[in-house]
Amino acid sequence: MKETLSVLCLVLLVSVSEAAITKPPLGEFLRCLRSWPSPENPITDDIITADNTTTFSSSYLSYTKNERFTTPNYQTLMAIVTAKHVSHIQATVVCAKSNGIQIRIRSGGHDYEGLSYISSVPFVILDMFNLRSITVDVPSKEAWVQSGATLGELYTKISDASETLAFPAGVCSTVGAGGHISGGGYGNLMRKYGLTVDNVVDALLVDVNGKLLNRSTMGEDLFWAIRGGGGGSFGVILSWKINLVEIPKIVTVFKVNRTLEQGGIDVLYKWQFVSSKLPESLFLRAMPQVANGTRGGERTIAVGFYAQFLGRADELVSILNQALPELGIKRQECLEMSWLNTTLLWEDLPVGTPTSVLLDRPAKPEKFFKSKSDYVKKPIPKEGIEKLCNAMFKINNNIVYMQWNPYGGAMDKIPASATPFPHRLGNLFKIQYYTAWFDANATKGSLDMMKELYEVAEPYVSSNPREAFLNYRDIDIGSNPSGQTNVDEAEIYGSKFFLGNLKRLMEVKAKYDPDNFFKNEQSIPPARVK
Ligand SMILES: Cc1cc2nc3c(=O)[nH]c(=O)nc-3n(C[C@H](O)[C@H](O)[C@H](O)COP(=O)(O)OP(=O)(O)OC[C@H]3O[C@@H](n4cnc5c(N)ncnc54)[C@H](O)[C@@H]3O)c2cc1C
Ligand SMILES: *[C@@H]1O[C@H](CO)[C@@H](O)[C@H](O)[C@H]1NC(C)=O
Ligand SMILES: *[C@@H]1O[C@H](CO)[C@@H](O)[C@H](O)[C@H]1NC(C)=O
Ligand SMILES: *[C@@H]1O[C@H](CO)[C@@H](O)[C@H](O)[C@H]1NC(C)=O
Ligand SMILES: *[C@@H]1O[C@H](CO)[C@@H](O)[C@H](O)[C@H]1NC(C)=O
Ligand SMILES: *[C@@H]1O[C@H](CO)[C@@H](O)[C@H](O)[C@H]1NC(C)=O
Ligand SMILES: *[C@@H]1O[C@H](CO)[C@@H](O)[C@H](O)[C@H]1NC(C)=O
Repeated sequence: MKETLSVLCLVLLVSVSEAAITKPPLGEFLRCLRSWPSPENPITDDIITADNTTTFSSSYLSYTKNERFTTPNYQTLMAIVTAKHVSHIQATVVCAKSNGIQIRIRSGGHDYEGLSYISSVPFVILDMFNLRSITVDVPSKEAWVQSGATLGELYTKISDASETLAFPAGVCSTVGAGGHISGGGYGNLMRKYGLTVDNVVDALLVDVNGKLLNRSTMGEDLFWAIRGGGGGSFGVILSWKINLVEIPKIVTVFKVNRTLEQGGIDVLYKWQFVSSKLPESLFLRAMPQVANGTRGGERTIAVGFYAQFLGRADELVSILNQALPELGIKRQECLEMSWLNTTLLWEDLPVGTPTSVLLDRPAKPEKFFKSKSDYVKKPIPKEGIEKLCNAMFKINNNIVYMQWNPYGGAMDKIPASATPFPHRLGNLFKIQYYTAWFDANATKGSLDMMKELYEVAEPYVSSNPREAFLNYRDIDIGSNPSGQTNVDEAEIYGSKFFLGNLKRLMEVKAKYDPDNFFKNEQSIPPARVK
């Protein structure tokens, strides 16, 4: 009986995907949007269709971060709605649903696989970039941040309001608050204060019926799910209320390289034993990367070490000279500065760059890239590190690296079920594999070589399941087609992202979006009805 049913389902699915090639009528959708009762905030200027030729492609590109996805699919992308008011979000959700159109919600557009602006079934992009207000309340150490604000804008606002408050989030200023926080969000304050989602205290969300809800009206189970269960599964986040954290006025950073000749691999090997046990106020990232050798054309490995320390340089040097003397860090390699200034260094901008660049919003993508992620629970032996380095060499791009991000500290103390993000106690570090290129012809080779690197890493990383970080979106680990959600497939990628929290996420989904309107290739499916 079960077999017959699944065969039947398969037939149904196939016919649905064929039927999906026919677009639902755009006119009906637009009429519905325009008739939405919101006289003070008319939506007309905020709907961009393919008729507005130049606006259409420039607005598509504005928040397309990965050059792999610069050409809109004119067969399926029906319109872009650049919401300026909550009623525009409500209208888009309700009108898309009633017209059988999918939506993709885009805040900063940094999704590694472009899931916020690509679909192979008819869809509209709900663009959130206009909704970017930030209000900081210093006495209560809280802030409201709208989804379309960038991390750079958030950091600037916090720093303008107080020299001793900060927020634990990512290190790229153009990342959007909407997707970043939905997917967990981490940065160099993680060992002291946890993830972004560990510091979220309220949210405003538009649900599948177009209702605007806050924490108390949505209920604790939905509020739990949106703090790390991934964007695009439960509703549209309008804004987050966050807890700000205390930092000293002056903090210390350094960025140094240790080459192969300088024993970089030995330092990296030892780093694995100490980085997750250092004081919580210290985050020491290791970055094995392909570098140019001293002779022309020669390639070698340099291991970068980046530190963020909530304290002064002398203390940092003394901690590291005890815990990791192999690194041989010197006082003059350390820089003392404000927390806001450190955010520039973490973006690889030179010292002295004005902080106003944190507010930049590039008009189009700069490069092609691909990332993958892994969790490491026991130190990788030296021959494993060498194999990984050799696999990096095979990727023939100028930019190829691994980011090793240490865990421990607060990450060990927060229970795995406190939020959907489960990768807590027991992890030494997380790896991000990354390569970028500037020529479309290099795409296929780069993607293939990244798969090979991932295979080489397999014996050294978590298994059953091989865990992955949702914000480092990687379509290779399991995915569904745009318009469908097969639960068995969802359990493959879902268990890698969420481990034991997947079941609860699926139950929350079944309760709040039982017809699975909010979906993408790696979204949460509703739990099966028993
Ligand atoms: C250069 C770079 C650096 C990065 N650095 C870090 C880092 O340091 N730490 C880290 O944790 N991550 C980092 N990331 C990953 C980043 O956190 C994720 O890509 C994140 O999803 C981006 O959020 P976004 O709003 O910019 O993306 P989008 O592409 O807009 O959205 C990502 C996902 O969330 C959904 N979504 C977006 N907005 C909403 C909303 N308002 N409501 C509901 N769903 C929504 C989208 O539909 C999509 O599924 C980095 C990414 C890049 C490209
Ligand atoms: C797009 O075109 C329509 C119809 O010509 C027009 O009403 C609307 O204002 C245009 N929108 C933008 C953002 O240019
Ligand atoms: C949540 O919304 C309800 C209904 O609008 C309101 O009464 C309540 O004060 C809100 N809660 C918070 C914390 O703002
Ligand atoms: C470390 O080496 C890489 C690769 O050569 C280079 O891009 C980077 O600027 C170097 N960093 C420092 C701090 O010297
Ligand atoms: C390495 O050399 C190539 C040219 O051979 C150059 O394009 C690239 O920018 C160099 N990379 C670094 C990190 O200096
Ligand atoms: C921050 O950087 C700016 C620009 O380089 C510099 O003028 C300022 O002194 C720095 N402030 C601190 C406290 O680091
Ligand atoms: C990419 O490949 C195409 C087709 O083979 C070729 O015409 C083009 O010059 C190549 N581009 C680059 C930058 O090498």
